Amino acid sequence: MRSLWLGFGLALSVVLLSAPLQVSAGPNLICYYDSRGFLRQGLAQFTLPDLELALQFCTHVIYGYAGIHPETFEMQSINRPLDYDNRHFAQITQFKDKYPYVKFLLSVGGDRDTEFEEKYVKLLESGVQGQRRFIESARDLVRRFNFDGLDLAFELPRNKPRKVHSDVGMAWKSFKKFFTGDFVVDTNADTHKTQMTELVSQLSNSLKANDLLLSLTVLPNVNSSWYYDAPAIATKVDFINLGTFDFLTPARNPEEADYTAPLYEINSDNRLPHYSVNFQMEHWLLQRVPANKLNIGIATYGRAWKLTLDSDHVDKPVVTNTNGEAQAGPQTKTPGMLNWAEICKLLPNPSNVNGKGGDAPIKRVSDSTKRLGSFAYRVADSDGAHGLWVSYDDPETAGSKAQYARAKNLGGVALFDLTLDDFRGQCTGDRFPMLRAIKYRLL
Ligand SMILES: *[C@@H]1O[C@H](CO)[C@@H](O)[C@H](O)[C@H]1NC(C)=O
Repeated sequence: MRSLWLGFGLALSVVLLSAPLQVSAGPNLICYYDSRGFLRQGLAQFTLPDLELALQFCTHVIYGYAGIHPETFEMQSINRPLDYDNRHFAQITQFKDKYPYVKFLLSVGGDRDTEFEEKYVKLLESGVQGQRRFIESARDLVRRFNFDGLDLAFELPRNKPRKVHSDVGMAWKSFKKFFTGDFVVDTNADTHKTQMTELVSQLSNSLKANDLLLSLTVLPNVNSSWYYDAPAIATKVDFINLGTFDFLTPARNPEEADYTAPLYEINSDNRLPHYSVNFQMEHWLLQRVPANKLNIGIATYGRAWKLTLDSDHVDKPVVTNTNGEAQAGPQTKTPGMLNWAEICKLLPNPSNVNGKGGDAPIKRVSDSTKRLGSFAYRVADSDGAHGLWVSYDDPETAGSKAQYARAKNLGGVALFDLTLDDFRGQCTGDRFPMLRAIKYRLL
């Protein structure tokens, strides 16, 4: 009798031990959850039941974002009323009980920690003591709120955007080739790279000793060649998410609009080759980083520029003479950005066919090659108003990126983020169409 129970117990523990392995062997779908979505109002307000619905598709949820203290470098909440007083950290990780196969990580940085941005470089430079304070506080914060691990989304200096005009107003074409966006933005990048490796290595030791995960997120336009010693970092982290979108944005590139997240490089019009998903992925793969540690970043929102009467090439980018960020969308209320639900409502449909001015539909230009992404636009009225040009991934192009991840045996896809997907199903009735399209193509 006793041996029978023993046998049963053994069998059970084999099942329990092997179950998580089976799940993690499939492709990853890393779902960022930016808590700003929880604080939006109206149709854009993302609630806990919305998150719960998404959990069946996600292998990991990354909570965005925590920050660091500018002097002590300790990791801390950047929104105490929400994270602590309203127990939002705990509200998120409580889903672990019901969804034991989903891993929950807490992310630090992510462009949300805006007070004194240089502090991430200062942290790298802070030596053993500063780094240790960061590591210990990070480990404690993650454990205290029952997260499964930490995600590093450090805010490091960005590539300089290409300048279109010189100050003296010379013709942009003759100047363009000199402004390739590759100015040196950090003369100490080599030192910072070494310090980063050291930090990640110590951090990894500390987290591993506590059975916690560590992932790295490379933010858009942070140059991987400068800050990450790919082979050294890769052995220390569980996975790496590449922010392969926002290569151009209306804030960084107010005077020209283009595909913001092309899958493949476009070798025309003097474009920068590293502004593509494939180039960024190859950068890591060529350094023999195991493909299964790398996840492609896909944005659930588009970037929207204002067109002017002088804008040219609107149906064949690069679009010239744009005028910065388009007006905010009615739901997300953020200039220069529209989420998929907002874009979908602007595309031609029965309710806007006869619309005028700002209510007129936008013209969609789909990408039959599936290499570049979609865009849509509305030319400016004769008085110069209501011009709009938006580049975006829709469920279809997001699906082809997922397929690319599959074909290259990558780890999977990282979605930025759940709260900007069409979680109410306003477009076609399907809730989370981007998430679903990606999941479907990853299977
Ligand atoms: C980093 O910037 C350099 C130019 O300074 C560029 O040649 C390189 O491709 C960039 N690396 C990545 C991974 O984008």
